[in-house]
Amino acid sequence: MSLPALDAQTAQPVAHSAAGTVLLSVVIPTFNEAQNVREMISRLDVALKGIAWEAIYVDDNSPDGTAAEAKALAATDDRVRCIKRLGRRGLASACIEGIMSSAATYVVVIDADLQHDECILPRMLSLLTNDSADLVIGSRYIPGGSADAFASSRASFSKLANRIAQMLLGVSVSDPMSGFFMMRRDRFEQVAGELSSIGFKILLDIMVTARGHLRVVEVPYEFRERLFGESKFDARIGLEFLGLILAKLTRGIVDPRFVSFALVGTVGLAVHLLALLIALRLGTHSFPIAQSIATLMALASNFLLNNMLTYRDRRLSGFGLLWGFLGFCAIGAVGAIANVGIASWLYSEHSVWWLAGAAGAVMGALWNYSMSSQFVWRTR
Ligand code: GDD
Ligand code: MN
Repeated sequence: MSLPALDAQTAQPVAHSAAGTVLLSVVIPTFNEAQNVREMISRLDVALKGIAWEAIYVDDNSPDGTAAEAKALAATDDRVRCIKRLGRRGLASACIEGIMSSAATYVVVIDADLQHDECILPRMLSLLTNDSADLVIGSRYIPGGSADAFASSRASFSKLANRIAQMLLGVSVSDPMSGFFMMRRDRFEQVAGELSSIGFKILLDIMVTARGHLRVVEVPYEFRERLFGESKFDARIGLEFLGLILAKLTRGIVDPRFVSFALVGTVGLAVHLLALLIALRLGTHSFPIAQSIATLMALASNFLLNNMLTYRDRRLSGFGLLWGFLGFCAIGAVGAIANVGIASWLYSEHSVWWLAGAAGAVMGALWNYSMSSQFVWRTR
């Protein structure tokens, strides 16, 4: 890989390393950020004066028309591009896709909502071009930085998540959840295949996956207030974070999506028992009918919760929801047969009832999970 052109006297990156070559790709993930697009580009224009940059918007088909806004700009400014993704959601996967579409030597991810301070970009870049670092993080939690724009509840969550990540995963940087970081693209591509594309925490994932092989430097900045639009952060993203921690701690053996699927299944069991109780008390005296009603309720609850949580990035709606539910029931029926078959066989071999029962349940859950990942919530 050739190094970027540097001005011999100042060691600053030069505008164009060769004819028209882009030195820095600025990847900007968006969901409902239409009002921030123009302002972002004019700020980059000022902050990155003298540097050959491009902006890559990655938009998940925002209903507010963010992609149209970005493409309108792209039509007149060839430094701007927009990838519009259909049928998918998610910050981490958007960042990965944007970076993978770059051919520049360096890439930076920055929020579209102007909360990250673009003025530190040249400093971040020079740390990479003079080879002082492989990864530079815009940090809110080192002297000179601040996260005062966070509401106090969000601030404590952010601090707690940082603490957990630092303790469990052994990352020593102060802001491993930052959504603002710059790195050499070749370094990114080395780890890209192992990244989990679910959730918000791509930077943490990159550092853990690289297992200490990246020289990391943090640059402080003040996290700003949002002017337009609203944050997409919610409780589900907190759950995804726990899933990512679990996956990374077990070196990828535990799939965060399966954890979510299994948790939903546990809730389904509670729904089942509750529905059974209510049906027996209030309605029918026939146990088979009550058990059938309870089974249907549990299936519906599992299906809807998985659609909301486990597969939120591939969420079904309208007719897709109906077909999905039918498929989910069919898969569940086959899973139940497999479950009973395996449990009965194990029981006949070893006659430890709880082991046989649990093994059957786990096999059934794995079957349901892998089949519904492939056929009900398949990636388009
Ligand atoms: N393409 C795409 N798809 N972009 C998304 C999605 C999505 O599903 N969800 C959010 N984004 C974009 C937003 O449009 C914004 O540009 C950026 O990702 C950050 O989202 P915010 O909703 O503004 O996040 P925040 O300000 O609450 O969270 C900040 O702090 C987190 C750590 O505590 C951000 O800096 C995060 O990046 C950071 O992880
Ligand atoms: Mn934000």
